[in-house]
Amino acid sequence: MRPLRIALTKGRLEKAAIDIFRNMGLDVSNLENKGRRLVLPLGDFEVVLVKPADVITYIEHGVCDIGIVGKDTIYEFPGSYYELLNLEIGRCKFALAAPNGTQFFGGYAEKTVATKYPEVTKEFFLKKGMDVRIIKIEGSVELAPLLGLADAIVDIVETGKTLKENGLSVIEDVVPISARVIVNMASLKLRKREIEDFVSAMSKAKTV
Ligand code: PRP
Repeated sequence: MRPLRIALTKGRLEKAAIDIFRNMGLDVSNLENKGRRLVLPLGDFEVVLVKPADVITYIEHGVCDIGIVGKDTIYEFPGSYYELLNLEIGRCKFALAAPNGTQFFGGYAEKTVATKYPEVTKEFFLKKGMDVRIIKIEGSVELAPLLGLADAIVDIVETGKTLKENGLSVIEDVVPISARVIVNMASLKLRKREIEDFVSAMSKAKTV
């Protein structure tokens, strides 16, 4: 049987996740000196470093067993996998933000909202019973209202620095976010013991 394979979101969550692996007593040297290798040994396990949405894809297809990914990605791509643990790393929030001093909720004209997360945004305004036009942007969403493309954005806010430096402010918090452990459904049946041991070790080694 192949080693248990972990899909880890590269970038923001990477360092904090490696700290947890280290606390679990695992040899993280390959993760710390990864070069350009894509499959990295972690003790008896294997780690692949991938983009957030790809964590979900690899877990759903069963080529990875355990995924570490932000709740933002889980909200945007709900699917067939189990969410077993809140790692409480990568804490931030989704928020609705607009240029300082503008009245997003005022007036009758339909509003335009730019976001990298159209599903989350759709759901947020659906709950409010408000019709908005949603435009998908792939990155630096803060640019859209500055260029006049949108009245507001729904985006991730961590320190609030990006909003501040671009003359935007939060109008309303949408939902808090942190990293979660997700697991392939078949893996949890077939390799229950191994996976439960790993996830419970992660829970004990959590840094916060
Ligand atoms: C996220 C988000 C904001 C920024 C917020 O972008 O989209 O731009 O972080 O962080 P802050 O509140 O600490 O300033 P990210 O760096 O993930 O890249 P992206 O713009 O490509 O989504």
